[in-house]
Parts: sequence; C-alpha cells; structure tokens
Amino acid sequence: MESGKRVLLIISGGIAAYKSLELIRDLRRREIAVRCILTKAGSQFVTPLSLGALTEDKVYQDLFSLTDESEMGHIELSRDADLVVVAPATANIMAKMRTGIADDLATTALLATDKPVMIAPAMNVRMWESAATQENLAILQERGVQVIGPEEGDMACNEYGMGRMSEPASIAEAIAGFFSDAGHSQQKSLIGKKAIVTSGPTHEAIDPVRYLANHSSGRQGHAIAKALAELGADTVLVSGPTRLPDPVGVTVKHVLSAEDMLAACEAALPADIVVCAAAVADWRVANPPSEKIKKNGSMPSLELVENPDILANVSQLAKNRPALVIGFAAETEDVVAYAQAKLSKKGCDWIVANDVSPETGTFGGKNNTVHVIEADTIEDWPTLSKEDVGQKLAIRIATYLENNPT
Ligand code: CTP
Repeated sequence: MESGKRVLLIISGGIAAYKSLELIRDLRRREIAVRCILTKAGSQFVTPLSLGALTEDKVYQDLFSLTDESEMGHIELSRDADLVVVAPATANIMAKMRTGIADDLATTALLATDKPVMIAPAMNVRMWESAATQENLAILQERGVQVIGPEEGDMACNEYGMGRMSEPASIAEAIAGFFSDAGHSQQKSLIGKKAIVTSGPTHEAIDPVRYLANHSSGRQGHAIAKALAELGADTVLVSGPTRLPDPVGVTVKHVLSAEDMLAACEAALPADIVVCAAAVADWRVANPPSEKIKKNGSMPSLELVENPDILANVSQLAKNRPALVIGFAAETEDVVAYAQAKLSKKGCDWIVANDVSPETGTFGGKNNTVHVIEADTIEDWPTLSKEDVGQKLAIRIATYLENNPT
C-alpha cells in the first residue's frame, strides 16, 4: 500500500480516456488519492460525474472558472500532488508540454508543476511514429518525464500498431513503483553505476521478408533492466524484437540482428555492469539477397555463418572491461555442467543458468528457475516470477559491487 500518496491525473482527449476510470479504481485500491483535471477534449469521452464519483473529489476543468480557481488555483493544484500523471496523453498534449504552451488548465498545471511527471501516450500508430511526436517524446524524456507504454495492438481506428495506451493495471503498477522507489531512494545502491542489458531474440534476415529467430519473449532481460534502473543504475536495454513495452526509467535501443545488437552494446560502453540475457541467434545467413527469394521448383540452400558472440566480446575486452559481466545459459539438459563450461569459455563473471526445455514453460512464460554460477559456487534459486528473478539479481549485483569496489 502506498497510502497517503496523491496523484494529479490529467485526462486528455482520446478514446483511451475511458480506461482512466479503471486506473482511478486501481489507484484507490492501493490507497493512492487521485484528483482529476479533465480537458475539454477529454470530456467528450468521459464525464466529470463519473470521475468525481470514483475520486470522491471535485473534477477540475476550467482555467478561468471562478469556482475552480477559488477552490484551488492552478499553481496550487499542480503542486499539491506527489506525482502528475497524464493518461491518456495525446500527441497534442505532448507537443504542448514540449513547447510550454499553456492554453488550458491541464497544460497550465503541467507547465507550473514542480513535481515529477509521468505520461501514458495514446494515439494512432502514424501519429505515434511521426517525426514530430518522436522528437517531442525524446525531449520530454530528456527532461525527466517518465513514459509508460504505449503498446502495440488493435486501435480504435481499425489500424494495428504501436500507440494503444498501456492497460490501467500497468500504469497503476508504474505509479506504485514510482512511490515505492521514491520512498526507498536512500537504499538505492547502484546510483552512479552504468548498466547494459541485452534482451529478447534477434532476427537474422534470410531475404527482405523472411528471417531466422527463436522463441525468446524478452521478459527476463526486460525485468533485469527495470530492476537495475530501480536500484539507481543508469541503464541501457539493447532489445531485439519483442512485444513488450519499454520499461520505465530505462534507455532502450531497439535492434534486429546480432550484429546490430553488438554494435549497440559497443556504442553504449563503457559500463560497470553488462548482463547478456538476449537469446542471440548463433548463425546468420551469409549473403541475404536484397530481393525476395522466389519458389522456382528447387530448394534454396542457406549458407550460415556464425554471429559475433556479444557476451564473449564484452567479457574479453582488453580495455575498460566492465566490473561485472553476466551471461545466461539456456539449456535443455545438464544445465549446470553446460553453464559452467560456458562461464570459462566466454570469460564472464557469473552465468545465470536456466532449463528451457519446453515442459518447463520458461521460454515465453512468466516464471524462471535459475542457478547462479560463479567460478567456484553454485546458488540454486527457487522458481520465481521473472520480475522477482530480475530484482534478486539486481540486489546481488549491487551487493557484489559494494563489496568489491573498483
Ligand atoms: N550470447 C551472446 N552472443 C551470441 C550468443 C550468445 O551474447 N552470439 C550470450 C547470450 O546472451 C547468453 C550466453 O551468451 O548470455 C549464452 O547463450 P546460449 O545461447 O545459451 O549459448 P551459446 O553460446 O549460444 O551456446 P549453445 O547455443 O551452443 O548452447
């Protein structure tokens, strides 16, 4: 419970505004108080009456309303909360936040606030992908605005793509996480450390439309990146193609192939901690043609060449080697023995070994049963959610770095 915390929720005009009702209920279940500002466009999708009933508070709408301003002026409104959340955040409100336009109560409060701001964007995929929105997003993130989602999926406009607002439960989770982090910030033990985490599968092109890949969901790698960031590490997540939203508070570099992943890791170095959780494809097609391979009666043959090994590359860096390099070993038999062999072959410091046999449900599943292997120790962990494995690993990393200062 985050009891006693207060959120100012700004609801701008998008079809996803209806989800704000569920978000309020979820936050109130966590004993987080919510006060709403509803924009004019937002009021086309959700009524002040329902918001007022759920928040048990007045809903603020007008900048120049005598009753609104006499009850609580826009400056006071923006500073009374512990956190300002814009959900849904339309492309329009993001553009206004970026440029500092203050032409209604919502944007005036956003400009006037001295509190942390979180946004949950929601818009059509083309609007999301537009250069203008992406530039606004980058600048808002640079200024410290936390961004939740958006996610990929069906849109109200019958299109499919990135731009759906995150589900209320995920937004509520991020808000609760923010409060628990803020409360425990003095315990953060990776402040001042830089971490790089690889995650997800890689796609290796066969031709412009086909690729070789594997079943990795990226869940474990993403959870580790999030947990490291929560402990205060400046975290870069180099992610192959996954369906997961970018974790909050993490810089995400999206890549496709193993070669791209290595290049992104090299660009992000130097770092104190590198965790290679990606299921990198071991091979790529030697010379993928630039045109689609056509069926012509005979079977095409694919010549494969080995991909660069990112974990081995980083572990064996002659200059600026990270203080801690951690690999994963995804095995289907003799898990610990194979993992120990990988530890010495690749030269990393720890290997997190897991059994990925189909019957364990690890690939794509929610849980993981791992063994943390060092040169002379093996630690068997119980079956945990991938989030819990991420947190336990981040704490183990922080403890190691505290005990072994460089
Ligand atoms: N890894 C990597 N780059 C590669 C292959 C693997 O960084 N080209 C990393 C993975 O991220 C993981 C570790 O190496 O941390 C082990 O990956 P795994 O696939 O289990 O082992 P491989 O080295 O590919 O060996 P094998 O497939 O023979 O088990």
